[in-house]
Amino acid sequence: MKEDILSFIKDQETPKAPSPADKAAPAAPSAVQKTPPQKPSPLPMPAKREATIPVGKDHTEVIKGIRKAMVKTMTEAAHIPTFGYNDEIDMTRLVELRRDIKGVTESAGVRFSYMPIIVKAVSLALTEFPILNSIVDANCENITYKAAHNIGIAMDTPEGLVVPSVKNVQTLSIYDIAVELNRMQTLGAAGKLTNAELTGGTFSLSNIGVIGGTYARPVILPPEVAIGALGKLQRLPRFDDKGNVVSKEIMCVSWSADHRIIEGATMARFSNLWKSYLENPGLMLLYMR
Ligand code: COA
Repeated sequence: MKEDILSFIKDQETPKAPSPADKAAPAAPSAVQKTPPQKPSPLPMPAKREATIPVGKDHTEVIKGIRKAMVKTMTEAAHIPTFGYNDEIDMTRLVELRRDIKGVTESAGVRFSYMPIIVKAVSLALTEFPILNSIVDANCENITYKAAHNIGIAMDTPEGLVVPSVKNVQTLSIYDIAVELNRMQTLGAAGKLTNAELTGGTFSLSNIGVIGGTYARPVILPPEVAIGALGKLQRLPRFDDKGNVVSKEIMCVSWSADHRIIEGATMARFSNLWKSYLENPGLMLLYMR
C-alpha cells in the first residue's frame, strides 16, 4: 500500500537509536555482509548529443559521418548467420588484482581499467583458437588466419560508436595495452582517431557494461568473425564449493560468431579458456611472452 511505502521511506530517513538488544549482541556478519556495500549507481543523465534535438517538433537530418559508416557496416553484418553464446565470469580475483596495481599505473599517469587484462586474456585464448582471429572475404569463399591480434574496442564517443583496435596485442604487455587504450580513448573523446586506428581489427570487444546491462547481442564487424560484449560487473551472491552463499563479482559475456565458419563448440571452448584466465589471472603468467 502507498501508506506502507511512505512509512518505510520515513523509517529509512529517521536515524534509529540502537535498541538494548543491539547494544548487547551485535549480529554476527554473514558471508555476504563481509564486503563493504556497493555505492548506489548514480541516476542516468540524458546524453548531451541527444539533448540537442529540438523539442516539440519533428526533426529530420542527413545520416552522415560515423553514423553513415555504421549504416554500411551493420547492413553488411546483417547477412552473417550469427551464433550467440553467453556465460558469466567470476571476476572476484581480477577485481582484487586490479585494485592492487591500479595505483601503480596511475602514479605514472596511466588509467587502468579491467580492459587491458581482458584484452590480453583474449589474445592468449586466440593463440589457441586462431580461427577466431581470422577474416573472411565478402562471399565467404576464403578465410585468412591473421598473424596479428588487433583487438577492436567499441567506444562510445561524442561522435558516436567507433571501434579502434589495439594492434599486435600478442606482443604487448598488459601495461602497454593500458597505455594504448588511454591514448585511443583520449583521441576518441576529441574525435581525432585516424584511419590507422579505425581499421585493421581482427577480433572485437564491446564493454557495454560501463553503461549498464547484463547481456547484449553484439553485431560482428565484417570481415571479422567474432565479437564479445561485456556486461556490467555486479556483486552477486553465489555458492562456494561447500555450499555457502558468498559474495562474488560477476560479469556476463555475450559472444557472437559467424556460424558459416565458427562452430558453437569452438566458441564455447575459446570462451572457457578466456574465462579461466580472468577467473585465475595468475594463469596468464604461464603463457605471456
Ligand atoms: N561494469 C562495471 N563497471 C565497469 C565495467 C563494467 N563492465 N567496465 C569498466 N567499468 C568501470 C571502470 O572500472 C571504471 O571505474 P573505476 O575506475 O571508478 O573503477 C569506469 O567503469 C570507467 O571505465 P572506462 O574509463 O570507460 O574504461 P574501460 O577501459 O573499462 O572502457 C571503453 C573503455 C572505451 C570500452 C568504454 O568507455 C566505452 O566506451 N564503452 C561503451 C562501448 C559501447 O558503446 N558499446 C556498444 C557497441 S554497440
